[in-house]
Amino acid sequence: MFDTMTFTKTLGALCGALLVFLLGKWAAESLYHVGGHHGEEVASYVIEVADAEEATDDAPTMTVEEHLAAGDASAGERLWSQCRACHQLEQGANAVGPYLYGVVGRDVGTAEGYNYSGALSDAADVWTPENLFAFLENPAGYAPGTSMSYRGMPSPEDRANLIAFLDQTDE
Ligand code: HEC
Repeated sequence: MFDTMTFTKTLGALCGALLVFLLGKWAAESLYHVGGHHGEEVASYVIEVADAEEATDDAPTMTVEEHLAAGDASAGERLWSQCRACHQLEQGANAVGPYLYGVVGRDVGTAEGYNYSGALSDAADVWTPENLFAFLENPAGYAPGTSMSYRGMPSPEDRANLIAFLDQTDE
């Protein structure tokens, strides 16, 4: 009887200890699991978003500013051959088109002594790099009615390079 009682108490104590241990383990695991799972979920979400943003940045959808910042004047010099039939770079040297000395940052339609169509000043005020970038892609689309009969330069890299070149003419 006494032995059985001792045995029962001991077993009870062991069971109690085991129960406490299991409860503690479960509590710790569930805490860890909830925390870990939550953290993982947040982390993978952030990574997915970062990946998506990276993908669009790397794609050919660079912003106009990024294109212009990457403009290379020496590569642009070669593209000038597409303009020189009608334009000169020396100040005051009007030809079929107005002289393009210092055209980057110049007010639209202000080459001295040149007779403009008026279509350009309807489209823009200042030849900022951004405006030139849009105009040179498709002059007739940008400034309907312009007398500049140039088909346009489709490549954004080419336009950025050419604008970098034009920007050097008054330096
Ligand atoms: C076929 C002739 C021709 C070619 C080629 C040509 N242009 Fe023009 N360009 C003109 C004429 C004409 C005007 C005046 C347009 C008007 O008044 O509507 C003009 C106007 C401009 C203007 C506006 C200048 C100002 O004072 O407001 C810019 C900038 C310009 N051209 C840049 C270029 C560049 C850069 C190229 C080469 C990629 C080029 N053009 C090729 C004929 C040409």
